[in-house]
Amino acid sequence: MTTEIDTILRNYKQGKRDQLIPLLQEIQEKAGFLSEDSIVEVGRYVGLSTTKIYSLATFYDEFRFLPAGKIQISVCNGTSCYLNGSKAVIDKLKEETGLLPGQTDRDGILSYDIVTCMGGCNHGPVICINGEYYNNVKAEQLPDMIRKLRYIFDND
Ligand code: FES
Repeated sequence: MTTEIDTILRNYKQGKRDQLIPLLQEIQEKAGFLSEDSIVEVGRYVGLSTTKIYSLATFYDEFRFLPAGKIQISVCNGTSCYLNGSKAVIDKLKEETGLLPGQTDRDGILSYDIVTCMGGCNHGPVICINGEYYNNVKAEQLPDMIRKLRYIFDND
């Protein structure tokens, strides 16, 4: 991955801190998460401490610091979905999994994150599970969905 990170870094000006977020976004897009090593490399490149980069990155829900689980749930919290109840969906996910957005459970099965729009605004709340979209999701549907998914992926 280091070579891939080097390739990405070359697209950004060394020492330019204002490009930090797009740089981290590009690394995450490529690697799936921000590893400790990648944060150290980025820190060296832009001239910021790893502590500073972590604290900036954790401010954004979109960044994850562990690989995603086999079941990756993305919940839209864009304006339309928010107005249609995405907060209840997110709260239920937290309650059911004991995880915060961007975290992965210990067995590496489940993770979730929060995104800003998935293009299905008239059908919110929208969630995406491993690339499959679900519209008009209700918080009370989640326990059953998660139980079924865990069953499938635990036995995978
Ligand atoms: S705001 Fe949720 S899909 Fe657009």
